[in-house]
Amino acid sequence: MTVTSKMNSVSRQSMLGRLGPGGLLYAANKIIAVAAPGKEDERWRKEGALFRRWGRAAPQEAPTAPPAATTPSDLLKFLAINALELSAPASDALLKSRSSEWFQLAGHPGSLAPAGPGTVWKRRAPGDHAAHSPERDAYEALAACPHMRAAIPRYYRELEYQGERFLELQDLLHGFRDPHVMDVKMGTRTFLEDEVSNERARPDLYDKMVRLDPRAPSAAEHAARAVTKLRYMQFREQRSSSAEQGFRIEAVKLPGRAPLTDLQAVREPQQLAATIARFLGANERARRAIVQRLREIRDLFESSEYFKTHEIVGSSIFIIFDEERAGAWLIDFAKTREVPAGARVDHRARWTQGNHEEGFLFGLDRLIAMMEAVETDVSR
Ligand SMILES: Nc1ncnc2c1ncn2[C@@H]1O[C@H](COP(=O)(O)OP(=O)(O)OP(=O)(O)O)[C@@H](O)[C@H]1O
Ligand SMILES: [Mg+2]
Repeated sequence: MTVTSKMNSVSRQSMLGRLGPGGLLYAANKIIAVAAPGKEDERWRKEGALFRRWGRAAPQEAPTAPPAATTPSDLLKFLAINALELSAPASDALLKSRSSEWFQLAGHPGSLAPAGPGTVWKRRAPGDHAAHSPERDAYEALAACPHMRAAIPRYYRELEYQGERFLELQDLLHGFRDPHVMDVKMGTRTFLEDEVSNERARPDLYDKMVRLDPRAPSAAEHAARAVTKLRYMQFREQRSSSAEQGFRIEAVKLPGRAPLTDLQAVREPQQLAATIARFLGANERARRAIVQRLREIRDLFESSEYFKTHEIVGSSIFIIFDEERAGAWLIDFAKTREVPAGARVDHRARWTQGNHEEGFLFGLDRLIAMMEAVETDVSR
């Protein structure tokens, strides 16, 4: 059945009223895999259980538009227009309301979009295919783990829609009103060993390096006007706090403000602490709740069998709070890989080629210590 034949018979209003969890697009897509329902399924549906709440119950109606609402991404347009196949004005209205409640903070522009109330779709990474989809495999394994599933957004399924594949995930922003949001990329190493195995020096990476910092290349690199991928990636890590602290703040969004996405050069501990203090504002209860949640994620991670045998590169901790509740989750498993048989990773040791360490817990220790030490600015 096509979307049009199903949708044309219902009014826009009733159609919108019929949207269930998982959203707009059930009619048209092919479900490829579904997360196995577990005992805690109910808990996942009652999103309150996933947050640390100190205020009264958050209102359930749609949030008001934050002033920083951005132009709908191509993916959002694609999903909304293709799903509904309504006339242009209706699609525009829908786009406006959906895009005003939702924003993608970091990552590849347009790689995620809200698909229905309470869910987002994440586009499959370029180069992945049915037989090689590390992010899907990671979400499936973690969602099936009775402990780790509490540290990630709810994973619903992988699906195919109009020839493209997506993962359907819990929308962590759902129900928040103009919250404080921060994406922290974890680890001292943020690239896969495979990505840097090519030792050819590349002029394009030299150019990128010079654009970021003309003094960064050595005399020999200036002479060759080329650098290797490993050199370029490590330069990026040293330029940010990744190399020293094992985490970097990718982006922050404060209520009523546009997202700050140009934070990759925030490197020194004082600058990091100031950025975190700004993120927290005067909210001491949020700070405590976030520290507690980060400790919980660390405990889960440390006792997870999965993470003893998987490197977790380029993943983020996504932190959200408003006046009533706070939460933090692990997201982005596009570069999560099983290590070779017999190998083990402790996530704190220094990386050397072939040991698969990425420094995730090294960074989480420091992030927690910084969140504990930072003083919430009550004067703001
Ligand atoms: N479950 C979610 N709920 C709400 N927002 C999300 C969710 N997952 C991701 N996001 C938003 O999308 C941004 C990017 O997410 P993510 O890191 O998974 O994608 P990416 O970096 O583009 O992906 P990749 O590294 O796989 O190419 C996050 O900073 C956040 O704003
Ligand atoms: Mg990312």
